Amino acid sequence: MTDAKDKLIVALDLPAYEAARDLVNQLGDTVTFYKIGLELLFSDGLTLARELKQEGKRVFLDLKFLDIGNTVERAVASAADLGVDFLTVHGHDTKTLKAAVRGRAGSNLKLLAVTVLTSLDQSDLDEQGLSLTPGELVLSRAQLAKNAGIDGVIASGQEAAAVRAKTGADFLIVTPGIRLPGGDAGDQTRITTPEDALRAGADHLVVGRPINAAKYPKAAAEAFLQRIASA
Ligand code: C5P
Repeated sequence: MTDAKDKLIVALDLPAYEAARDLVNQLGDTVTFYKIGLELLFSDGLTLARELKQEGKRVFLDLKFLDIGNTVERAVASAADLGVDFLTVHGHDTKTLKAAVRGRAGSNLKLLAVTVLTSLDQSDLDEQGLSLTPGELVLSRAQLAKNAGIDGVIASGQEAAAVRAKTGADFLIVTPGIRLPGGDAGDQTRITTPEDALRAGADHLVVGRPINAAKYPKAAAEAFLQRIASA
């Protein structure tokens, strides 16, 4: 089960420290890897990140950095000093990606590139003057990230197999939008079961509402772990 636990990342998409802390306490030893994003960041999310590290958990900061190289490098270095495990940066251009790689030098921080936000479709890319399809852009940016020395990407279950084929085995694929069969999709348009995402090549699965909004979060997390372990 340790291997399954390492694959499951629970998104702490909650508005306040107290609610997130309460969820972590309820989940106890069942969950060992947490994602903290922008919403919680502004309600003592970094305090919780430090606490989780002290408690031996793994922490993924989903902050999607994009700025001039100097700023990205220094921000990544600060995140690395926190001792967190994963951090996201936008994967639009090599300058940003290489700045992030310089920023984490000497630390164990793994960098993940966000290729194309799953909320964007062809019309959004057209608006930006981009001629590629979302699928083509995902692959092109995944390769850009790998070439720049980034450790992996965030990819939907539908994209994971193509990213794996393009980038090879030695590249992390972290997949959100995971639901058990029959689970409520919420606002996710590209959902995948744990089994399908793992089969497509995902290394880690990010699960939010099916656990953080469940009536019995620990039981919900255990259900995901069972499926991951037997996939
Ligand atoms: O609640 P749900 O399981 O849909 O949460 C998925 C998590 O993964 C959220 O924190 C969301 O912001 C994040 N995410 C995503 N799609 C991406 C990147 C991140 O759903 N492309």
